[in-house]
Amino acid sequence: MRVFSGIQPTGAIHIGNYLGAIRQWIELQDKNECIFCIVDLHALTSPYDPAKLENSILEKAIVYLAAGVNPEKSVIFIQSQVKEHTELTWLLNTVTPLGDLGRMTQFKEKSKKFKENVNAGLLNYPVLMAADILLYQTEIVPVGEDQKQHVELARTIARKFNQKFGETFKIPEAKISETGKRIMSLSYPAKKMSKTDPSESRIDIFDSPEKIKEKIMRAVTDTGKSIKYDLKKKPGISNLLTIYSLLANKTIEELEKKFEKKGYAEFKKTLANAVIDALDPFRKKQQEFLSRDVYVKTILEQGKKRAQLIAGSTMADVRKKMGLS
Ligand code: AMP
Ligand code: TRP
Repeated sequence: MRVFSGIQPTGAIHIGNYLGAIRQWIELQDKNECIFCIVDLHALTSPYDPAKLENSILEKAIVYLAAGVNPEKSVIFIQSQVKEHTELTWLLNTVTPLGDLGRMTQFKEKSKKFKENVNAGLLNYPVLMAADILLYQTEIVPVGEDQKQHVELARTIARKFNQKFGETFKIPEAKISETGKRIMSLSYPAKKMSKTDPSESRIDIFDSPEKIKEKIMRAVTDTGKSIKYDLKKKPGISNLLTIYSLLANKTIEELEKKFEKKGYAEFKKTLANAVIDALDPFRKKQQEFLSRDVYVKTILEQGKKRAQLIAGSTMADVRKKMGLS
């Protein structure tokens, strides 16, 4: 099956991105044809520093590689280097219902967060995402829960296009991990962990052991003493249990038992060590790739060529179907 997913280059990649998306990518790449993109064009819709963009993109390529994306199995490339993404976005705009765009949760949230910069790109963001997905005749889109609505819209757009112009696009499906779909903020357990929130609210995948310890010890917990999974009454502890369970490969029940008679402080200390151990290999690989930037750039160059072949072939079909020569 064809798999496509992407992450924006601005901001550091955190364990929410890893547990919600990247971990699924690694599992899928053995048996599927996977394409993983660094979606720099999407990042332009929120405030960013142009002078830092190129470096952020390279850093994300290193995250993909360090986390286990294998460039011999999967294509890794930069969205803006394959022009078909912007071309298809315009064409898909003409079949996208405006009302649907205004109803997107992410658009509403970002318009509130960046009040002084509610640009049209923010509204059309999901159309560019639909173009990313549909260009590659994608069947599976592994993402966190927050992106489900955007994948649904990509399905709607694909169906509308196919109805109007004839069978052209495969209808993609979101793949969402049951357990890691929504990792919450360490500071506000009612909010999802987000790249654009303050650093103490998230654990980045290359955080140092000292930082990890500090952030976990400060994480907001709930009233009471018991280490029990209860999303309503104990959202903070439940989130920490989820993180622990996924990174250390232990069930929640096992962990509840292990900490039955222990307090929050001991739980957090043990959790911090488990997170440090789980992320340690990533940090080591990051160091290795940082010293091999020519290699990383070569992978992106090869990825671009492979992506372009598929994207070009879909675009030729789309143009023909739409009556463009
Ligand atoms: P973004 O940080 O918006 O570029 O998201 C990149 C990928 O990570 C997408 O598939 C998101 O759905 C996923 N993701 C982002 N934040 C979280 C989170 N807190 N929990 C689980 N998945 C997430
Ligand atoms: N919008 C996604 C996010 O913010 C990133 C993204 C862009 C994406 N294009 C994509 C994810 C295509 C999956 C498929 O997380």
